[in-house]
Amino acid sequence: MLTPEDLKAKKSQGEKIAMVTAYDFAFAQMAEAAGMDQILVGDSLANTMLGYKSTREIGMNEMLIFVAAVCRGAPNTHVVADMPYLSDKDPQTAYDNAMRFMDLGAASIKLEGTPEGVIEFLRSKDIPVCAHLGLLPQTAENFKQKGKTEEEARAIEEAAKFVDSLGCFETVLEHIPEELGKKITSEVKSVTIGIGGGKFTDGQVLVMHDALGMHQRKLPPFATKFVDMYALGTEGFKKYVNSVKAKP
Ligand code: KIV
Repeated sequence: MLTPEDLKAKKSQGEKIAMVTAYDFAFAQMAEAAGMDQILVGDSLANTMLGYKSTREIGMNEMLIFVAAVCRGAPNTHVVADMPYLSDKDPQTAYDNAMRFMDLGAASIKLEGTPEGVIEFLRSKDIPVCAHLGLLPQTAENFKQKGKTEEEARAIEEAAKFVDSLGCFETVLEHIPEELGKKITSEVKSVTIGIGGGKFTDGQVLVMHDALGMHQRKLPPFATKFVDMYALGTEGFKKYVNSVKAKP
């Protein structure tokens, strides 16, 4: 399993890092078999697995079940557990919740933005932290690209330097201009992982359901569908239905 230090070494050697979200045992096994560097158990599971409109609709109880399943399915892969909405609302709550993930086998936790004093406290307890900047789905008013104005770009850049100085080993940069992703990547020691952050970040993450074509919704502008599992799965189910109905 890659440690935060291994991942930072990849950055300094210019080796790209592949991360994908996965939420259950079976898909975690597939991601590990495919040689994924990291698996993110994202709170996007609220949308992809549970059908909620917002990631704000789930909490620790749901996340714990999925993080445990992924850790069982991919025991040799670095699993990042996403802190759900308000689970990091203050330093002690964040630490208690982060420990629940670490006890299940997560290698690190990810949190959105820079909640007051939280990253400092988690780092003082040696919890490996992946930051998440740019578009922050838990609190965003819309899903438009962030960092388009000079002021917004500067704020994201400053936040990236800040979390780097606090010792975050990694930072997810979501839906920001390519040039900003490139600039931040060259300025910080932490590994940058883009999702709509352009091609110059140290690595990329995609939501599994987008990458594997598991739904029929319009993809975000930065996502790529590598296989059409919705079609494959529907086809397989149809064959099964037909085989059952054909029997006397
Ligand atoms: O929850 C998630 O899947 C994420 C990715 C969008 C990075 O945070």
